Amino acid sequence: MTKTAQLIFEGKTIDLPIVEGTHGDRAIDITRLRSEAGLITYDPGYMNTGPCRSAITFVDGENGVLRYRGYPIDQIAERGSFTETAWLLIFGELPTRDQLARFSAGLCAEELLHEDVKHHFEGFPPNGHPMAMLSAIVNSLGCYHHDLLEIESKGEFYLAASKIISKVRTIAAFSYRKSMGLPFMYPNPALSYCRNFLHMMFSIPHRHYDPSPEAVRALSLFLTLHADHEQNCSTSTVRMVGSSQANLFASVSAGICALWGRLHGGANAGVVAMLEQIRDGHRTPREVLELAKQKKFRLMGFGHRIYKSYDPRAVILKKAAHELLYKLGKADELMDIGMELESAALSDPYFIERKLYPNVDFYSGIILRALNIPVQMFPVMFAIGRMPGWIAHWYEEHLEHKSKIHRPRQIYTGQVLRDYVPIDER
Ligand code: SDX
Repeated sequence: MTKTAQLIFEGKTIDLPIVEGTHGDRAIDITRLRSEAGLITYDPGYMNTGPCRSAITFVDGENGVLRYRGYPIDQIAERGSFTETAWLLIFGELPTRDQLARFSAGLCAEELLHEDVKHHFEGFPPNGHPMAMLSAIVNSLGCYHHDLLEIESKGEFYLAASKIISKVRTIAAFSYRKSMGLPFMYPNPALSYCRNFLHMMFSIPHRHYDPSPEAVRALSLFLTLHADHEQNCSTSTVRMVGSSQANLFASVSAGICALWGRLHGGANAGVVAMLEQIRDGHRTPREVLELAKQKKFRLMGFGHRIYKSYDPRAVILKKAAHELLYKLGKADELMDIGMELESAALSDPYFIERKLYPNVDFYSGIILRALNIPVQMFPVMFAIGRMPGWIAHWYEEHLEHKSKIHRPRQIYTGQVLRDYVPIDER
């Protein structure tokens, strides 16, 4: 028996079905609301609105729970790899050894860019932001793979997904090399996904960069922890763009643009800027907290729409940052400053009352700094990690559900009807 919610409005009672999820999360199905009551819902920022059902990622914000296809994030972080996680998110199950080997081989086969793509970089100024290059060039991949603009089979989807997951790494590394005035380092098919990225970033001709196993493991962990997070801003963007039957390249390119915002994927760079302000003596931690409390700015890397407890990814990243610095024999003042700021915030009533905790971005930058990745590349690293999640959601929206195009309604508050006024009478 389907549970219902009753809406009584202007003397009419409407029963609206309740939709229930795997873990008891519930929603009112309002698909008949306008036709039966002449009403729409009003929910700026979609604080209380679910546009879809999804089986990919489960987040319980009150209890700090994050699971990819049912597997707890701490187990995946501890025992998995980024490539394995990409398969899990997209295809729904952990890959067999043979599936993982074939998927990895497929990513290797797709690591090169068409030689003409190199000319795109020539059109950007050296100080062009790498996120602008990434979104533009990922979208341009559609020009080189016409056969994958209309995806009608699982095989075509698999190929397009492999191309994007592999090439996004190459495009990102090339955008860094462009900004440094260094020659592009071509991918090396003998290297694993993460090791190959670090090679393309930091090798120079005739001097191969050989990262430590700890550095490769830390990068894989970073990407795994960023791989998906249900209906966040950029993923919802990918689903919306994909709902118009736009191709996969264009849809994930839109996701990159949404992620760039400083309230979203741009926050990791914002955290470093904030901690550097304290390191350089421009502000004390207490002053930073007071400014945030006066709403003069946001404490970057703190707070979350869903997590009203500690972001489980931040717990893992904080520990991993410590371990990486120790294993690399490095120290980073920003780590100590970050922990001091966290401790002060978590004992301050303003943050306690609002349930503001460190999120995924608060400590992630420490790991990227230890890997010598410059701060402008931080949102790019987030995008590389989130790519499998975006692709999984696009697939769920696009092929599995044959969904309707996303087209929200509005409450109009503009002018009433009026006639055109000739310019001489205005
Ligand atoms: C990501 O959605 C996802 O899943 C995103 C993500 C993913 O994996 O895709 O997890 C990745 O984007 C993490 C978030 C990264 N952004 C930041 O760290 C930027 C700083 N954080 C905030 O801007 C904010 O917390 C948001 C944007 C993350 C969430 O904002 P909400 O849910 O819209 O919260 P809100 O603005 O309604 O804030 C509620 C209250 C307000 O105070 P009052 O009006 O009640 O007095 O909390 C305050 C806010 O002013 N507040 C903060 C704050 N975040 C919220 N005050 C100071 N510093 C902050 N960071």
